[in-house]
Amino acid sequence: MDVIILKDGDAVAAEGAVLLRQVLQRKANAVFGLASGRTPLAMYRRLVVDCRDAGLSFREVTTFNLDEYLGLPPGDPQSYRAYMQRELFDHIDIDVSNTFLPECGAGADPLETGPAYEALIRSRGGIDLQVLGIGRNGHIGFNEPTSSLRSRTRIKTLTRETIAANKQYFEDPATQPQLAITMGIATIMDAGHIVLLATGADKAEAVRQSIEGPVSAMWPASMLQLHEKVSVLLDETAASTLALRDYYDWVAEQKRKLFESLEER
Ligand code: PGA
Repeated sequence: MDVIILKDGDAVAAEGAVLLRQVLQRKANAVFGLASGRTPLAMYRRLVVDCRDAGLSFREVTTFNLDEYLGLPPGDPQSYRAYMQRELFDHIDIDVSNTFLPECGAGADPLETGPAYEALIRSRGGIDLQVLGIGRNGHIGFNEPTSSLRSRTRIKTLTRETIAANKQYFEDPATQPQLAITMGIATIMDAGHIVLLATGADKAEAVRQSIEGPVSAMWPASMLQLHEKVSVLLDETAASTLALRDYYDWVAEQKRKLFESLEER
């Protein structure tokens, strides 16, 4: 696990965008796993600018989002589909028919949405890079505490805490869903590279428990400790309670020196 502590949210967004661009340089038809919420917004804005002004192209890219609410009418502005269109897809050259969320359309069986999503991800060759935010309770996607660490895409009941955290986005609380369909933890773990972004002091405890605590379903993001390629990008406030803070900075410094010496050869 690479724990990279950066000055602020802007620096986190910039570094996240670099990691996505590196994948695209190697593989124009990359498959990205994407997240919604507040955290990745600044990174998406950078990708939009790079696409508009710097020749970055998503023409051959496929995306799979982590999750979608269950029970919102199609086109609802609070749906994660609407969020992705508004914040990213409408502003880049991606083919929207290659963008997927675990959506359960009208009349579809929500119990079948999960297995169908898993099959679709497999049929596209799996996810090269998965972007994650983290909930204050350590959730990734909507895998709330006590989610099976080997779970697959399925319906989840949101915790009251998650519902409260997202209440601000719903004008009428009666329309806020309590259920979602989310990639499972095993689905996320199948990605080739996982990039977790966390900014803000309200994420510090979840970050500490997930990086430095034991692997536990009580902190679902702690499962990432068992993945072989994870980059955790944190701003100072999200990193503020890490016990090994000095060590992470030391590692970053040694890596920088190593890469510089390799480039000089
Ligand atoms: P946020 O959500 O980026 O809006 O904080 C993250 C999450 O709950 O996974």
